Amino acid sequence: APLSPPDPTNCVTSTVVTPENGTFKIECCPPAPFTDYVIPSSNNTQFRIRKAAHLVDDEYIAKYKEAIRRMKALPDDDPRSFKQQAAVHCAYCAGGYKQKGFPDKDIDVHESWLFVPFHRWYLYFFERILGSLIGDPTFALPYWNWDHPNGMRMPSIFTTDTTSPLYDPLRDSRHLAAFMDLNFDFDKEDNPHVNPTIKQINDNLATLHREFLLKTDQSDFFGAPYHAGANPHTSFGSLETVHNTIHMWTGVNPATNPKSNGENMGILYSAARDPIFYCHHSNVDRLWNVWTTQLPGGPRSNFTDQDYLETSFFFYDENKNYVRVKVKDCLDSTRLGYDYQRADLPWLNAGG
Ligand code: C2O
Repeated sequence: APLSPPDPTNCVTSTVVTPENGTFKIECCPPAPFTDYVIPSSNNTQFRIRKAAHLVDDEYIAKYKEAIRRMKALPDDDPRSFKQQAAVHCAYCAGGYKQKGFPDKDIDVHESWLFVPFHRWYLYFFERILGSLIGDPTFALPYWNWDHPNGMRMPSIFTTDTTSPLYDPLRDSRHLAAFMDLNFDFDKEDNPHVNPTIKQINDNLATLHREFLLKTDQSDFFGAPYHAGANPHTSFGSLETVHNTIHMWTGVNPATNPKSNGENMGILYSAARDPIFYCHHSNVDRLWNVWTTQLPGGPRSNFTDQDYLETSFFFYDENKNYVRVKVKDCLDSTRLGYDYQRADLPWLNAGG
């Protein structure tokens, strides 16, 4: 059977367990009854194109900042507010939901086949809320093009202006301008610097080649099946594993800052409090499209298991309606009214 949808009537206080600072409780549950979401027909005409964050122009940046500013200015109890939007992520990852019929089984959208569809729907509504706050129905999130050497650092729109609504002080300050290491983890010594060596570029590209092109099996790329009654965390797919590295690389490092657990980006409960989160996930989402449609050797398919397709999630839409959505309705992003500006894929030929 498909996993029961995380149901607001089923949500409980979440527990965050950290290696450094023990266990604490956090409240992330939403209120309200729901309706089934109907994909608006306006998606066909008001199309959104997500562009690479390092290539956007000043006009776009001003619009994006204003949209996030307005979202942050909404009252905390407005489900469209930045605070509530960030809490959605926390509820789905920190034991906020139990499976119906399996009260001792947490729901977590990470580390399984739910990873990509959950975040696709999450960004879909987040983006529509931003667009509606600035009256622009074609507003699209940018994507952090970290699979291209030109995008392998934090996009400057998030880092250079500390007064910007896109800025977050809870990041690893050594990495603000540095070239990223796709093999980074919290416990590994790193030597961040602005200008990469050829070897650093090639190492990153070789990692992407191995993790994306050479993974041809759905579970290996997306994460393993996760059915009703199962414990969460069945298995990471390689897309999620690479994405985790960038989370850790962005957040404050607990190995050098003992009071930190990796906040914001480096630990699940707080990750979505950093505006860069949504830009990061936009690229994860783009790579889902790339993997299924743009790789040599023909299309690679999505899961077709009914339990996958019928799994549902709950979100607030831009009109504050609490809606239920299903995985089967998000497999084609163009149906959801958006697509991605194409970018070169230099990792395709970077085996080594
Ligand atoms: Cu819900 Cu980047 O994780």
